[in-house]
Amino acid sequence: MTTNLTGSTALITGATSGIGKATAAQLAALGAHVIVSGRDKSRGDAVVAAIRSDGGTADFVAADLSDEHSVFQLAERATEVGGGHVDILVNNGGAFPFGATADTPAQQIDDVFAVNVKAPYLLVAALAPAMAHRGHGAIVNVTTMVAEFGMNGMGLYGSSKAALALLTKSWAAEFGPAGVRVNAVSPGPTRTEGTAPMGDALDELATAGPAGRPAQPDEIAAAITFLATDQASFIHGALLPVDGGRIAV
Ligand SMILES: NC(=O)c1ccc[n+]([C@@H]2O[C@H](COP(=O)([O-])OP(=O)(O)OC[C@H]3O[C@@H](n4cnc5c(N)ncnc54)[C@H](OP(=O)(O)O)[C@@H]3O)[C@@H](O)[C@H]2O)c1
Repeated sequence: MTTNLTGSTALITGATSGIGKATAAQLAALGAHVIVSGRDKSRGDAVVAAIRSDGGTADFVAADLSDEHSVFQLAERATEVGGGHVDILVNNGGAFPFGATADTPAQQIDDVFAVNVKAPYLLVAALAPAMAHRGHGAIVNVTTMVAEFGMNGMGLYGSSKAALALLTKSWAAEFGPAGVRVNAVSPGPTRTEGTAPMGDALDELATAGPAGRPAQPDEIAAAITFLATDQASFIHGALLPVDGGRIAV
């Protein structure tokens, strides 16, 4: 069993920040050629430069996950830049607006489902058949603990990630027999650029779990990386909570 990813290409969405950035660094450290994706080129270039300066291989491919044409182009471009293959797909990029149901603009429902459900769906549709044809591949979806239970103000976000959780199992059934493992990591509160505006509210959210604190991005990335490697060779369709124990209690 090896964790050496030399020769593999890993596409990570939302890799310009937070959990995705940490995952990109960890997969690159194992030898993968990492395709860093996001909208913000300057943040993407900085992630690529950091990986290269640590001796890794990385390239940035810009994409807007809310635009289906951009998602199709991402799949194509990542395959080209990756040397004709994408072996690992991490569907990490996400939108997480919180708020009262009655105050939610209709457009926001479409936007959240476009980024959190439709984009992963289209990327899997574009990339998993080629993985299956080659007989190997790993897909890791990033969901959330609030896909598991109801929380005031998080219904839209949680329901989109609950859809992604179910898709994880459906794709495991569809692509697993051809050697493509599909799993998900379900993070709890994690201190990232994206959650920085929550301030102390993130700590309060975290106090409900046994760990009693928010995660660092590396702690979530470690679980994603595990599921992406052969260390997880017999794990298909699993939703791994990495939430400080929050859904266990
Ligand atoms: N942090 C938490 O507490 C927590 C908890 C549970 C689950 N999660 C999930 O973990 C994932 C990462 O969260 P994070 O906290 O690391 O977020 P973050 O720091 O805000 O990073 C989000 C990433 O997603 C990208 N992104 C957002 N909208 C995009 C779009 N329309 N098109 C392309 N890229 C887009 C951003 O890239 P650009 O800005 O460059 O476009 C960025 O790289 C998300 O799926 C989130 O739902 C996070």
